[in-house]
Amino acid sequence: MDFTRTVLVTGGSGFIGSHLVCSLVNHHPDWRIINLDNLDYCHSPRSLESIESRKNYTFIWGDVCNSRLLDRIFSTEDVDVVFHLAAKTHVESSFESSSSFQRVNVDGTRVLLDAAHRAPRQPRRFIYVSSDEVYGGSRGEVFDESSPLRPTNPYAATKAAAERLVRSYWDKYQFPVIITRSNNVYGPRQYTEKVIPRFLTLLQENNKCTVQGTLPVSRHFLFVSDAVDAFLLVLEKGVAGEIYNVGTSFEIPIAQLAQELVRMVKNVPRSEVNDWLEFVPDRPQVDLRYPIRCEKLQQLGWRAEVSWAEGIRQTVKWYQDHPDFWSARTKRNDKNSPNPWAQFAPCLD
Ligand SMILES: NC(=O)c1ccc[n+]([C@@H]2O[C@H](COP(=O)([O-])OP(=O)(O)OC[C@H]3O[C@@H](n4cnc5c(N)ncnc54)[C@H](O)[C@@H]3O)[C@@H](O)[C@H]2O)c1
Repeated sequence: MDFTRTVLVTGGSGFIGSHLVCSLVNHHPDWRIINLDNLDYCHSPRSLESIESRKNYTFIWGDVCNSRLLDRIFSTEDVDVVFHLAAKTHVESSFESSSSFQRVNVDGTRVLLDAAHRAPRQPRRFIYVSSDEVYGGSRGEVFDESSPLRPTNPYAATKAAAERLVRSYWDKYQFPVIITRSNNVYGPRQYTEKVIPRFLTLLQENNKCTVQGTLPVSRHFLFVSDAVDAFLLVLEKGVAGEIYNVGTSFEIPIAQLAQELVRMVKNVPRSEVNDWLEFVPDRPQVDLRYPIRCEKLQQLGWRAEVSWAEGIRQTVKWYQDHPDFWSARTKRNDKNSPNPWAQFAPCLD
């Protein structure tokens, strides 16, 4: 079959990436979707089970920092669109292993951009999926896309640095990049280190929710299908060189989030909810909140469709229905497979 478009998604085996890949594969049978992922600890092979045998889906097991691999992809695959999601994403770990965050999030973005820009046929869109964390914590203001970047942790700093790299290819070459900055995304299949799946997993194992610190930390949450819809809309209607915030007005203090999840999972009376919370020390610096304005994206026609009540209901149900999803993981070994990309597979440790 001749495909009308080839879309490369990096990090397509991760939480958001797998939802994006499934949506693209299911809704665009005439597009070829290539997923480049090194299958880091936060992926599950089961996330893409439903689409992996589809004709319009190709998986490449490889590292976004491997310039030889990226050059090969762009010289042979006629990529029209890049969604760049591959990244190290856990803020806590970014303090302990900042060099790996720098390597993947900054160098990986540079290698990918460079290969895409030098491709014999350049992609017509390069969409970089960034985060509201690049703004740093709000001091009362609501951030729009022109607000200054003041990242306060190594993860956010590498996302901001990668944004600058992406932007520089627009400034110098008019390479058609777009940047999105999303609120906290949640939903089924998110790895258990992130706050909602962490609380749910603790509760399912009859442990207390560990709420970090005593500061009034709150976050805005965006359901994953709304994030995916935003990225697809930005692909079709977004303007090259622009940045789009992607978020909701739904904000919840983390301690209240824990209480809500206790009520949903444990079904206990209000008076017993706090028995399931344990307050533990936080890191010294934590951003209290990241409120963002999303008018620019709304003008393209985007609205969050999934309410918090519905999104969290679906998420809790999914974790209850899939208690072993994250424990039953196997390592992939493609090294000796007939797959032409197998030579680029990362080393197994
Ligand atoms: N989850 C959120 O709340 C959120 C919010 C805003 C922005 N983002 C951004 O969205 C993107 C996806 O986030 P997520 O939550 O799905 O993360 P995730 O950690 O679930 O997925 C990241 C994916 O990248 C892959 N990866 C890591 N290093 C790689 C490398 N060297 N080469 C190839 N693949 C590699 C991993 O295997 C994984 O599949 C990230 O860029 C993140 O910064 C996430």
